[in-house]
Amino acid sequence: MVQVGEQNVDFNLLYLVENNLVEVLELESLVYDHPWTEANFRGEFKRSITLALGFKHLNKILVGYCFFWVIPPDIHLLNLAVRPEYQGRGLASRFLKTMLSIGQRANVRNFFLEVRSSNTPAVNLYRSFGFTLVGRRSAYYDNGEDAYLMTLKTSSETLGNR
Ligand SMILES: CC(C)(COP(=O)(O)OP(=O)(O)OC[C@H]1O[C@@H](n2cnc3c(N)ncnc32)[C@H](O)[C@@H]1OP(=O)(O)O)[C@@H](O)C(=O)NCCC(=O)NCCS
Repeated sequence: MVQVGEQNVDFNLLYLVENNLVEVLELESLVYDHPWTEANFRGEFKRSITLALGFKHLNKILVGYCFFWVIPPDIHLLNLAVRPEYQGRGLASRFLKTMLSIGQRANVRNFFLEVRSSNTPAVNLYRSFGFTLVGRRSAYYDNGEDAYLMTLKTSSETLGNR
């Protein structure tokens, strides 16, 4: 159990598995104009390098998830989403802290992600964790939008300070 946000509301952090697919798809369709498909998620649930974390509110609703590949010395963040009515309470930050902590234990030194160039909230979030913009992938997304490539390179000492 972890305490998140200022409202002293309890959330459970858990590993998601394929049985969580229906609730993951529901949240995905709420937060993205171009959501991942069922096949995308099934593929990630089957992949041995993928970790899928979720937060459930005590009322059992899935309020967020985070998918990433752990391939030491790298972690690649694939998908991070928080249910709209639960945004702004520090949940995404909690996911990133957990990902960094898992990375520290797995001797990960490089964290990578792609983010839509228009996604200011997410870019701000990643910058606040020390990610820097290292490249731009032209027309990376289906609708022709560019992706920013962001990385965080770190040592075990700096990870421990977050
Ligand atoms: C991006 C997203 C995951 C952030 O989740 P969240 O739980 O609301 O984020 P947090 O409360 O942990 O916010 C942490 C920081 O992110 C940034 N941030 C979050 N929401 C923001 C917003 N609407 N505008 C600007 N910055 C924002 C801020 O730097 C914030 O720090 P602050 O509260 O000290 O200002 C959430 O908005 C979301 O699910 N969006 C839709 C899906 C998506 O775009 N995912 C990212 C794909 S790469």
